[in-house]
Amino acid sequence: MTSNADRVMIFDTTLRDGEQAPGCSMTQPEKLRVAKALADLGVDVIEAGFPAASPGDWDSVHSVAREVEGPIICGLARCTRDDIEKAARALRPAPKHRIHVFLATSAIHRQYKLGMAKEEIIRSAVEGVRIAREYCEDVEFSPEDASRTELEFLAQVVEAVIDAGATTVNIPDTVGYTVPHEFAELFRYLRKNVSNIDRARLSVHCHDDLGMAVANSLMAVVAGARQIECTINGIGERAGNCSLEEVVMALRTRETFFNARTNIQSHKLYPASRLVSSITGMPIPRNKAIVGENAFAHESGIHQHGMLKHASTYEIMRPQDVGLSRSALVLGKHSGRHALRERVKELGFDIDEAEFARVFEEFKALADKKKELFDGDIEALVLKAEGHDQGPWSLEGLSTSSGLQSATATVTLRHQDGRCLERRSIGDGPVDAAFKAIEDITGVKPSLQKFELRSLSEGEDAQGEAIVYVNFQDRSYRGSSATTDIVESATRAFLEVINRIELSQRAQAA
Ligand code: KIV
Ligand code: ZN
Repeated sequence: MTSNADRVMIFDTTLRDGEQAPGCSMTQPEKLRVAKALADLGVDVIEAGFPAASPGDWDSVHSVAREVEGPIICGLARCTRDDIEKAARALRPAPKHRIHVFLATSAIHRQYKLGMAKEEIIRSAVEGVRIAREYCEDVEFSPEDASRTELEFLAQVVEAVIDAGATTVNIPDTVGYTVPHEFAELFRYLRKNVSNIDRARLSVHCHDDLGMAVANSLMAVVAGARQIECTINGIGERAGNCSLEEVVMALRTRETFFNARTNIQSHKLYPASRLVSSITGMPIPRNKAIVGENAFAHESGIHQHGMLKHASTYEIMRPQDVGLSRSALVLGKHSGRHALRERVKELGFDIDEAEFARVFEEFKALADKKKELFDGDIEALVLKAEGHDQGPWSLEGLSTSSGLQSATATVTLRHQDGRCLERRSIGDGPVDAAFKAIEDITGVKPSLQKFELRSLSEGEDAQGEAIVYVNFQDRSYRGSSATTDIVESATRAFLEVINRIELSQRAQAA
């Protein structure tokens, strides 16, 4: 059925604004994996990073531009030639690319951050857009802190950047300050008072400091915005950004109210959400709308009774619409390739033959240790990143013993350069002792910030996932691992952190 609703573009900034959030940093292969999932999900624009921020950011944007097909690939830049040139070079391989330039416009930012007068802001914004247009036909401009900018001045800036060639004008609520009605009025004001407004697409970019990012974005759509900037799971600076899955499902569920639709394949939302959560280590709250574990669970008797009579009594969306297809069917060591293939597909993952071969091999190994494999186990196998266990150090042996006072661990590690080393350490518990043995072998002693353990499925033999967060030389690193033994999971997670530190030191030295 074709719809007459207006098309709203989805601009995903998980890899730029999302990745800026504390604890959400991703490696280059992880960013590429997320970018491919976003393309598969059907987003229109992927903001892949801020190329001038660091050589690592430049490389990540460049690799997404080279390898991800479908969406427009976008890079952020300040209004300087150097930033814009860096963005343009990083984006060049992408057949469709966009440069996104920004400059703060509010009185607070002008006075305290930039020390610039209104005229200088306009001059610099126009100059930034003109330079970007030398490299690219698709140029977006964002007046940072737009929602706290004087309306008349904001209109002047918007008119000037459209005249200079901006094809999209994005209105950010940078500090999550606005409220829905006020924000809609701002959009209406711009549409009425900017004479060339029809020559650019209006976009909205909201932060969630007061918990209104999704509501504010929807009201901007009501008032004429035709692009929404958002992130998977709402990750982002401070309280985060507008959540992609929530805003998309609001538009889909209430299409006739909003008279707007997106191109998102909604049944891929849940797998994309799990992927971002597993890569960043940012857990999804159980009660999170759309993708939380409880989003489709009905506990109360009255609700269950209604659901049994007719699902529409208490359900406005079907779990399968967002890609959540939980099954009571458990797999085990006698399950074959076909059964696993089907389950992986039902869980919303689309993986190639090589990746499936790895998942199947690990599935068989896990099924030898664990009688029943649930959806959570299978998801964890699929989400395990390629190259997760690829060193330079690998775990060859681990034995621990513990008593009430202390514990010992003997760890054997092999390095890619051929060294095989073993150490025995004492610690407060077996995990602490194993971490110390790894530190002794590798000579790397990061400071442990956080250690989390969670069960991935049901039953006594459930897999336990360990996540380790450390700081080392002013950078934060994260490692995770899931096995049926929590001490082994913790040891492997810590070893992943040590491997990441060694790899990042090599990259910095290169
Ligand atoms: O929140 C913000 O203002 C931004 C801009 C760079 C768009 O992220
Ligand atoms: Zn932002």
